[in-house]
Amino acid sequence: MASATFLILVAAASLLASFAQADLQYGYYNTTCPGVEKLVRTKLEAIFAADSTLRAGLLRLHFHDCFVRGCDASLMLNSHNGTAEKHADPNLTVRGYEAIEAIKEVVEKACPLVVSCADIMAMAARDAVNFSAGPHYEVETGRRDGNVSMLEEALTNLPPADGNVTVLTEYFADKNLTMKDQDPSLEPAYGKTLTTKCPAEKMASVVPMDDVTVDKFDLGYYESVYNHRAVLRSDAALLDDSLTGAYVALMNNASSLDIFFADFAVAMINMGRAGVLTGTQGEIRETCGVYVD
Ligand code: HEM
Repeated sequence: MASATFLILVAAASLLASFAQADLQYGYYNTTCPGVEKLVRTKLEAIFAADSTLRAGLLRLHFHDCFVRGCDASLMLNSHNGTAEKHADPNLTVRGYEAIEAIKEVVEKACPLVVSCADIMAMAARDAVNFSAGPHYEVETGRRDGNVSMLEEALTNLPPADGNVTVLTEYFADKNLTMKDQDPSLEPAYGKTLTTKCPAEKMASVVPMDDVTVDKFDLGYYESVYNHRAVLRSDAALLDDSLTGAYVALMNNASSLDIFFADFAVAMINMGRAGVLTGTQGEIRETCGVYVD
């Protein structure tokens, strides 16, 4: 769950400064759909009761939506020809589409054609973190939905699942971030455990990226990275850079939890502003996953 949360801090906070500043506001639906936040949270409670792993899924869903055409729910769109964002390689393991659609259905009953899918995704990501014992923060709302979704754009904007430091550096370069191109330094014994759990012939193997506290939003991710037990190369590389390494070391300390929560909330709010459509741009549609072709 806490996987790549550090990357939020470095990615979202600065990366998204390059996107146009959003015209969002707190409580955008206060008069047009006053109960929406509660509706979303209540529906999520039922969804997570059935599948608690979807909490991680919904956080990632929002991130993958925001990095491609901004937070406009373009990731939700479908294509008969397999040309939408969701068909791109880095999105093939993204989960939670049905959950967003189920929440949208409840919201539509209360306030037809008022609340965007993009706002529901932002609220759901926020609540998912909070339901995992993470921080609670207010989300700005007022996003509208895009109706364009292109596979190629997902490929060029999302860090690929096997992204190495070189690739990540390109993504972060214009954000004044430096991540040195160095090899991962996985602790040998843990490397052996992973090889046993994920043999080459078994592609569908599942291992937690935070093996300390699998389904809790906490500092376990940093503990894994600090102790050379990061699964992703991009995570292990954090130790090789002085700035990110210092942050990992700081977060490998239980007393840093409040700092992490505060940093995370700011980064999520920044990420939620990425390239949003507002005002008369885009649309509010009845269902999120309509077909673009
Ligand atoms: C350089 C940036 C990033 C890279 C390379 C990256 C890569 C990955 C990869 C490879 C996975 C595993 C997917 C699988 O199940 O096969 C993953 C999962 C995940 N990522 Fe990231 N990620 C990045 C940034 C982020 C950010 C910024 C967030 C949060 C806003 C995030 C949230 C998550 C979550 C919650 C999961 C678990 C999803 C699930 O259980 O379904 N990641 N990421």
